[in-house]
Amino acid sequence: MRIAITGAHGQLGRALCVALAPGYELVPLGHDQLELSSPITVEQIVATGADLVIHAAAYTNVDGCARDPDLAYRVNGLGTRYVALACRRLNAPLVYISTNEVFPGDAGRPYTEYDAPRPINAYGRSKWAGEQAVRELLDSFYIVRVAWLFGGERNFVRTVLRLAEHPPAAGLRMVDDEVGSPTYAPDVAEAVATLIATDFFGTYHLVNAGACSRYELARTVLRLAGLTTPVTPIKLADFPRDSTPPPYTPLANHAGAAIGLSLRPWEEAVAAYLTTLATV
Ligand SMILES: NC(=O)c1ccc[n+]([C@@H]2O[C@H](COP(=O)([O-])OP(=O)(O)OC[C@H]3O[C@@H](n4cnc5c(N)ncnc54)[C@H](OP(=O)(O)O)[C@@H]3O)[C@@H](O)[C@H]2O)c1
Repeated sequence: MRIAITGAHGQLGRALCVALAPGYELVPLGHDQLELSSPITVEQIVATGADLVIHAAAYTNVDGCARDPDLAYRVNGLGTRYVALACRRLNAPLVYISTNEVFPGDAGRPYTEYDAPRPINAYGRSKWAGEQAVRELLDSFYIVRVAWLFGGERNFVRTVLRLAEHPPAAGLRMVDDEVGSPTYAPDVAEAVATLIATDFFGTYHLVNAGACSRYELARTVLRLAGLTTPVTPIKLADFPRDSTPPPYTPLANHAGAAIGLSLRPWEEAVAAYLTTLATV
């Protein structure tokens, strides 16, 4: 079975390639081979002859999306439509990687797969447009929402470690009123590998179990790394940025858990990731 993977050089794309390489023939598609905002994407993906497509590429810079919402829509919304059209032509199921940011973050409880999305920023709106295109065009799809990914080179965990090495004059300041589900990319990749071996199509929240604030996550990373760098809690309002993060978006995994797909607690996943960093 041949699987085409968009965003193959990104954080999750790399983890997917590692998890799937033993069992499948992979066609990794990097940004150098595929420009999602171009309709030629349809032909390029059809030309892979894939039996299944995993669409992990996206314009993931949330502040960049806020500054240029049209670009966000062209890449994440229309681009996903092109990938879905290609899957329709190939008669191949699609795994579309989506985000916690399709939710507004004002429910005061974790979001389930059955909650109605209502994004509040340009990135979230563009990813939700992508989800809608997938649902409109395809019968066989898995929409996999993930959140706060770590596992590659550039992510929040790495930022905390870098800041701890050279702390800014004001010390480390982390927001304590943005809460989410930190998620280890290799854990998602393993879960996706299991999911695609089933025909349980639908929408999933594949995140590590539990939730925390950015402040708690930073403190946990430092503690597990054996560092004593002090961290001061601040508020989202103290940290002006172009995008508006939804404040409280832990994701509840009901659909995955029902078929035996549960990811370990986020603290264990952070510890596992730090172990890999210690060996490089
Ligand atoms: N990171 C998170 O915390 C997070 C949270 C929730 C959901 N997600 C979703 O999870 C998926 C994977 O995220 P990630 O962290 O692995 O992202 P990433 O590391 O930024 O990787 C995304 C990949 O997409 C490629 N890409 C960007 N624009 C493109 C375009 N116009 N055409 C083709 N390729 C393009 C990038 O290539 P270049 O780098 O060369 O541009 C990159 O290799 C995305 O769908 C994202 O929306 C991520």
